[in-house]
Parts: sequence; C-alpha cells; structure tokens
Amino acid sequence: DLEARCAAPAERLRQVADAMAAEMRSGLASDDPEGGDGSVVLKMLVTYVDSLPSGDEKGLFYALDLGGTNFRVLRVQLGGKEQRIIKQESKGVSIPRHLMSGGANELFDFIAAALAKFVASEGEDYHLPEGVQRQLGFTFSFPVKQTSIASGTLIKWTKGFTIDEMVGMDVVAELNKAIKRQGLDMKVTALVNDTVGTLAAAKYADNDAIAAVILGTGTNAAYIDHAHTIPKWHGPLPKSGDMVINMEWGNFRSSHLPLTEFDHALDAESLNPGEQIYEKLISGMYMGEIVRRFLLKMAQEASLFADGVPEKLEIPYILSTLHMLMMHQDTTPDLQTAGIKLKEVLGIQNTCYKTRKVVVDLCEVVARRGARLAAAGVYGILKKLGRDTVSPDEQRTVIAVDGGVYKYYTFFAQCMESTLRDLLGEEVASSVVIKQAEDGSGTGAALLAASYSQCLQDD
Ligand code: BG6
Ligand code: GLC
Repeated sequence: DLEARCAAPAERLRQVADAMAAEMRSGLASDDPEGGDGSVVLKMLVTYVDSLPSGDEKGLFYALDLGGTNFRVLRVQLGGKEQRIIKQESKGVSIPRHLMSGGANELFDFIAAALAKFVASEGEDYHLPEGVQRQLGFTFSFPVKQTSIASGTLIKWTKGFTIDEMVGMDVVAELNKAIKRQGLDMKVTALVNDTVGTLAAAKYADNDAIAAVILGTGTNAAYIDHAHTIPKWHGPLPKSGDMVINMEWGNFRSSHLPLTEFDHALDAESLNPGEQIYEKLISGMYMGEIVRRFLLKMAQEASLFADGVPEKLEIPYILSTLHMLMMHQDTTPDLQTAGIKLKEVLGIQNTCYKTRKVVVDLCEVVARRGARLAAAGVYGILKKLGRDTVSPDEQRTVIAVDGGVYKYYTFFAQCMESTLRDLLGEEVASSVVIKQAEDGSGTGAALLAASYSQCLQDD
C-alpha cells in the first residue's frame, strides 16, 4: 500500500516537471521573493553572478562554506589559464547543534574563529605581501535576497537552523564584523549559495555546465538564464547576457507530488510547516525520518517487530538518512547490516530476515520516490531552457550534482539518472551529462571571490 501511495510513474513526473517549469517562470516574474501572500513557490533568486570564472583568475583566495552537514574553510591558490588550481586545502568543522538555534554573534564568532585558526596555521607558501587583504568567498546555503555580489539578507532559515534574529540581517556584514573581532584582515568579496558555488566550479572545469543541483541535507538547484528574459531583473543587462538564478527549489510544491499522510505529519511537526515540501521528500535531512514514521506505524498496527513498539522508534529524527542508506545498501546475504543498525540505532534486539527485508524495502520505496522526483525537477529545468529536445550534435548540457545523498546513496543517484534518461528518451539523454561535483561549492566560492575581486580592481 505504501509503495502504491509513493509511486511516481513517468506520467506523474512529467506533470511535476511541467509544474516546476511553470513555477520557475512565475518566480522569475515576481518581484517579491518572500512571497508575502504565499503565492511564490519558487523564489528564483537573482544572484548577481553574471559571469562565471573564466580561468584567468590568479592569486590566493579563501572560502567559507556554511550550510551542509559540516562547515568548511578552504584556501585555493589559482595560477591563471595555464596552471589553473595550483593548490587547495580545506578543513571541515562540525557545527555544534546549539549554535543552530542560538544567537547570530555566537554563530558568526564560531565560524570566524575557525577561519582565523585556519589562516594562522598556514605555512610560508601562502604568504601574502604586506598590506594585501585576504579575499573570501562565502557560501551560505540558505535563501538570501542579494543586493549585490557581496551583500544579501537572509529570507528564512531551512534545514533545522532557527536563529530568528538573523532573518532580515545582511549576512556578509555580520561575517565581516566577526572577522574583524578576530583581528583578521580579510573581507567577503562574493556571497553565494552552495548551488551557485557548485555551478561556478563546474563551469570552470567544463564550459558546457549550465546548472548545479545539491542533494544533501537540503536540496536546491541553480542555473544560468538569459538576463533579458527575467522580468524581475531591473538592473543593467550584463555584458555576458547571463544571470545565475538560485531557484530554492526545495520549496517547490504541487498537487502532482505523491504525498502521504506521513509526509503531511512530518511537515506539520517540522520547524517550518508548509514550507520546503519538495525538500522534505527528497533530501538527507528528511528521508530517514520518513522511514522512521513508516516503521513506527507498522510496529504499532502490524506488529512488525516481535517485541512490540520499540521505544526509540518514537523519537523524531533518530533514524538518519545515513542509517537508512546503510540498511538499504546492505549487501550481506541475510541483511546482517540492517539487523545491526536496527539494534544500534533503534534498540531492536532480534529481527528475523523477513522483518529486515520489509525494512529494506521501505527504505527503497522512500529513496525511489525521492530520486524520481529529483529527476523530474532536473527535467523541469531542461524544459524551461528548451534543452529537453536537443540532440547531442546540436548542444551538450552538463549538470553538476553535489551533496551527501548523491555522493553516498548510490541507489538514489542511479535511480535519479535512469529516471531522467527515461523522461528524456535515449537520444536527447545522450546530450545531457550529470557530473558529480567534488567539494564544488567551496572551490566555486573562492573562484567567484577571485573573479569578482579582479572585476572590482579593473573597475
Ligand atoms: C558540499 C558542498 O560538497 O555539499 C556544500 O561543498 C554543500 O556547499 C554540501 O552544502 C551539501 O551536502 P551535505 O550532504 O553536506 O548537505
Ligand atoms: C536548502 C537551502 C538552500 C540550499 C539547499 C542545499 O534548501 O534553503 O539554499 O541550497 O538547502 O544545501
């Protein structure tokens, strides 16, 4: 029954893709990304990124990546056309949970301190001439209304962050202040969403890249559009004619989405009810939680587990998508790994093969639905850009994908790609390349910091 209710057959996916393309158009026309009346489904945020890195960028640049599972600091030494990326180093730091809901200063001081430590630990190789200020690309993976390439205010939080006082604040100004408090001579020259950073890095590596998708804790996509076709863009037409748009597709919703009572309950009990509905079907923050809800119902109503309803199964978010994928991708003949996870995570002592198989099948139902819907989203972008009908001799289309779900959940990645192929048909599908981006958004932010600080100098 659950499998039937979660089914996303091709016909339905085509409707989802059409709805996505339609919402993209209406988001591009609406001046109010906050959609005060709730009518704006896709914010389609103008990013002020109107030219992507060319390869000429040179020098030492930094990036700070906040919004995925880990927060990361990074430095990149760029050598221009010939040498490209000479050297790159990064450090991941996990964000203590209490900082996700505390005060703005605590969060910014924490990340600025990590940045200062990173800079302090660098060797002589990274020496900058006296008086030269360090330039930083800031990947901030939340919906931001940008006012320039290096400024923007937070529209709302997603993915479990709830620092209310930060909504409406200029996140760059706050970070610059925190950097100053650390006594560091560094400045943010580019503020980017993770999708935009990933797209910049992908385009640096492959000129045919036109979009980037994140499938991780949250989900989102950015793509390159023609500036003159964006009704809400009132600024000058960029030289390139292009503008990168951050779709914030996680907030997509449509009557065509196969939502169950479990999804409605998850949404109602979430930190952001009524928002990020697509994200709640597809992304790493939520898929494990959907499985937990399925299992709880089956334990309560069908005595799935021999010892009744396991207490831990009642704890929201106890089952992560990482646990889910480890159970689902269990290759042992009698699903031992799934049994171990059920014991370790949910305290379920003894399970028979049949029970473990039901659990694995449920994981598959949730992952397949998410992956197929993600493919429909990509198909929607291709439709909007008129790239859903081109043959490989006419045009090549590269879409970069990053994020833990795509990287580690092989079933999900493969299912998404095969679904997209089916939707496009073999011929068109051979013109579309899905490329895994490795750590793309940090590198992309550093590259954008480089190209925009050079622009500033040229101006
Ligand atoms: C990383 C990017 O590789 O993927 C981040 O550099 C991005 O910017 C992240 O937010 C998303 O993945 P996850 O799984 O950590 O949310
Ligand atoms: C959430 C954020 C979005 C980000 C995505 C992936 O949907 O709102 O900005 O790109 O997660 O990290």
